[in-house]
Amino acid sequence: MAKMWAGRFSKEVDETVNAFNSSISFDGRMYRHDIQGSIAHATMLGKCGIISEEDSAQIIAGLKEILADIESGKLELDMTAEDIHMFIEAELTKRYGDVGKRLHTSRSRNDQVAVDIRLYLRDEIKEIRELAASLVKTLCGIAENNLDTIMPGYTHLQRAQPVTLAHHMMAYGQMLLRDLSRLADTAERMNVNPLGSCALAGTTYPIDRGMTSELLGFDAPMVNSLDGVSDRDFCVELACALSLLMTHLSRFSEEIIMWCSWEFKFIELDDAYATGSSIMPQKKNPDITELIRGKTGRVTGDLVTLLSMLKGLPLAYNKDMQEDKEAIFDAVDNVKLCLKTFIPMIETMRINKENMRNAAARGFINATDCADYLVKKGMPFRDAYKITGQLVALCIQKNETLETLAIEEYKKFTDLFDTDVFDAISLETCVNQRKSEGGPAPESVKIQIQKTMKALSGEMA
Ligand code: ARG
Repeated sequence: MAKMWAGRFSKEVDETVNAFNSSISFDGRMYRHDIQGSIAHATMLGKCGIISEEDSAQIIAGLKEILADIESGKLELDMTAEDIHMFIEAELTKRYGDVGKRLHTSRSRNDQVAVDIRLYLRDEIKEIRELAASLVKTLCGIAENNLDTIMPGYTHLQRAQPVTLAHHMMAYGQMLLRDLSRLADTAERMNVNPLGSCALAGTTYPIDRGMTSELLGFDAPMVNSLDGVSDRDFCVELACALSLLMTHLSRFSEEIIMWCSWEFKFIELDDAYATGSSIMPQKKNPDITELIRGKTGRVTGDLVTLLSMLKGLPLAYNKDMQEDKEAIFDAVDNVKLCLKTFIPMIETMRINKENMRNAAARGFINATDCADYLVKKGMPFRDAYKITGQLVALCIQKNETLETLAIEEYKKFTDLFDTDVFDAISLETCVNQRKSEGGPAPESVKIQIQKTMKALSGEMA
């Protein structure tokens, strides 16, 4: 394809350079948003008398036609074009001659591309937020069904105190709610209009930036034209929000990987969401979660790509910035893929309540409650803590647990012990009595679910 800027040059650009320079292979996906931006621009040019109303109408009709042709497959993107912006403008000119050539009046690809990415990412954020919201709902559903499913809570991956699966799920619910709010925040700050910044220094034409802002659903025109074309903070912010969302999915995935192992066997993935081995017939592998864990590194890499790309750039536009798209698109694509597989995977996993409970019943997970029992009978906590430690050591020596150790053995440490200790250290008591705000008791988790659902409807309103 002949270059738009051929006039200034005496030679055609080298083919390798052309391919190297071209971004249409990855910015082609913004064709709809590019046309949307161009329609707003052409509308404004016509209304402000910068081009005639007839030319404006013709350009708009032509752009709509091109859009329909791309969507129907009638018009294929030309991979030798420099980018999607050049391709669409050239196509318009091919179809409408001089009229098409008027579209780029008072505009540059620098403000054009900045508009396109914002419009494109605005749609993507909406989709990602809907997926994340559906994950929060799934978590609330699992929680509702597992208010009494006792499992060990861990610190240092050592059994620590009993919790419930519901309590555990609602922890992830909170993380995802924060992700949702971070994404909304990013979308809000992103929603300003760079169009009219032109190449970098605005224009001498009497443009109306408020009008294009309104037409495109932006909150306001960007205040400074140099910033308008050189700002990619929104890509960084989004990549950061997505990296954190992925980090949450990755931590969750790591737990699922452990829970699937024979050492835990807390859950069983549905066959549709697991994979086998080419050699070991017994294997059922949690590949999805491992891929999510792996892709988290990749999305974090996208964030680092963007930050490193920007850090040395003088104002205003520099071609380095063309590298923004592959990074942010990769992050967006992968987050969507991960959410779309993760949600049905956890919806269909089978929960092995018995194994969870058995794991909680060993490992002296109720030792704190045993100490608290003595405290409630008047002993200072530190003394109670020491005695319980000695009891645990005795149990280990005798191959017993606190539940099975004879009351006579207890009484050797202090008279405060009585048979009601067994009730106090039962797993049910340990969980049900932890009804402090935010704790694992079913009544407390029910409130957490309610709060989460309320926050969710606030987020998605
Ligand atoms: N393809 C370019 C990009 O993605 C569009 C902007 C080109 N501007 C320029 N002055 N060469 O950044």
